[in-house]
Amino acid sequence: SARIAVLASGRGSNLQAILDAISVGELPAEIVGVFSDKPAAAVLQRVAPALRWSADARTFPSREAFDAALADAVAACRPDWVVCAGYMRILGDGFVSRFRGRLLNIHPSLLPRYPGLRTHARALADGQREHGASVHFVIPELDAGAVIAQAVVPVRADDDAEALATRVLAVEHPLLVAVLRLAAAGRLAEHGTTITLDGHALFTAL
Ligand code: GAR
Repeated sequence: SARIAVLASGRGSNLQAILDAISVGELPAEIVGVFSDKPAAAVLQRVAPALRWSADARTFPSREAFDAALADAVAACRPDWVVCAGYMRILGDGFVSRFRGRLLNIHPSLLPRYPGLRTHARALADGQREHGASVHFVIPELDAGAVIAQAVVPVRADDDAEALATRVLAVEHPLLVAVLRLAAAGRLAEHGTTITLDGHALFTAL
């Protein structure tokens, strides 16, 4: 089964969706580590202590130093896939190049719209009628890697950012599990800017 490492900073509902899919036999994988830049993050409590790693980035001399410690810890659990699931810290080039091609992120917008933060508020402010989530390969440019799959939700007239975030989160969970099923089965690959599914080009990034 595929070895999956998860990077997360907060609540961890996406990690929980992965754990649930594994436990009901929908995802042939195991979580080999959960890594956080927030030692108090609730996400860590979702797995056994032996699977937890965290460090406060503010106690490191530089971004590179934190990323190197994180990368060493992730590498030590020999993951096939590294999944950012609510990981709120930018990963530097050093980390990305070490795991490139097996590094995924779930982002709460229909990329290339709204990379970065406050995606729901920005979509509302722009009067978007559709919003959603994307799973993409991570490259050094923030939220700019090739998109593997997206889930779309309607924006409703009375939405605030919180209501919209809740609707998006509900589709994030099955979206992430669906992509991880392809990844775990060895069906998904990143070749430069091209993604392949079963060896056929799926998407070409710009
Ligand atoms: C999710 O909505 C995820 O897409 C988003 O944070 C939330 C984490 O929720 N990620 C980002 O904004 C990445 N920049 P969770 O902790 O319950 O999985």
